[in-house]
Amino acid sequence: MAVVIDGKQVAASYRETLKERVADLRAHGIVPKLKVVLIGDDPASHSYVRGKERAAEEIGIDSQVLRFDETISEKELLDLIDMMNADEEVHGILVQLPLPKHIDESRVIMRISPEKDVDGFHPENVGKMMLGLDTLLPCTPHGILHLAKTQTEIAGKHVVVVGRSQIVGKPVGMLFLNESATVTYCHSKTSDLGEMTRQADILIVAVGRARLVTADMVKPGALVIDVGVNRVEGRLVGDVDYEAVKEKASAITPVPGGVGPMTITMLMHNTVEVASRG
Ligand code: GUN
Repeated sequence: MAVVIDGKQVAASYRETLKERVADLRAHGIVPKLKVVLIGDDPASHSYVRGKERAAEEIGIDSQVLRFDETISEKELLDLIDMMNADEEVHGILVQLPLPKHIDESRVIMRISPEKDVDGFHPENVGKMMLGLDTLLPCTPHGILHLAKTQTEIAGKHVVVVGRSQIVGKPVGMLFLNESATVTYCHSKTSDLGEMTRQADILIVAVGRARLVTADMVKPGALVIDVGVNRVEGRLVGDVDYEAVKEKASAITPVPGGVGPMTITMLMHNTVEVASRG
């Protein structure tokens, strides 16, 4: 029976240290400020943004959500980003994805000042992360690394990442490589997924397909990190067949309550980092 990794609890404890850092900044006249841009009415995006607002309030970060109808033009959005880039009181800028089809997502990401890019999506920050330099790290990968470190040493472990998204799969492999893990990437064209995943000491699954990873695909004693968020018959489930894999792994993250709370916490971490840089 695996240890169930309580992401909510790890996140709560990390937020306590962030609270102290914010109190210290405020005592020096600095109020960390986060601007979140939310476009359209996607229910998942609204729910994620509510989570971010709640966490910011808890920690003492001043957050503001700017909501727009999905008819906003790309130029209006880019002009808004320019204004926030220039506003010295704004430390973090986050544009919630996905964006409406008429807006070029990568143009938007690249317009955000790399110094305020609390998502860690700007190519300058991605490049610095790849080089192992100190920078704003993408929140979900950073949260996953933090959770994994509560369970095990990373150096020398075989990490198998299933999924190669720009937001999670690709960068999480890079973060673990920077920690001296041996990293294998798998994706939809991988010929024998089970053969790969069975080699993992640490298995990270970020695909978005309910119960893709079954118990026969997991090495006994592996650490399993499930990044999937899928709605099945009104219930949230991950990419891992949780009930069966729980019997085989040494530790596993639940969905919900595993990686999710860590993602939001690392966003708060990035905002505090920017505010601390002065
Ligand atoms: N949509 C889903 N995940 C994310 C995220 O981490 N950041 C942003 N900006 N949008 C998202």
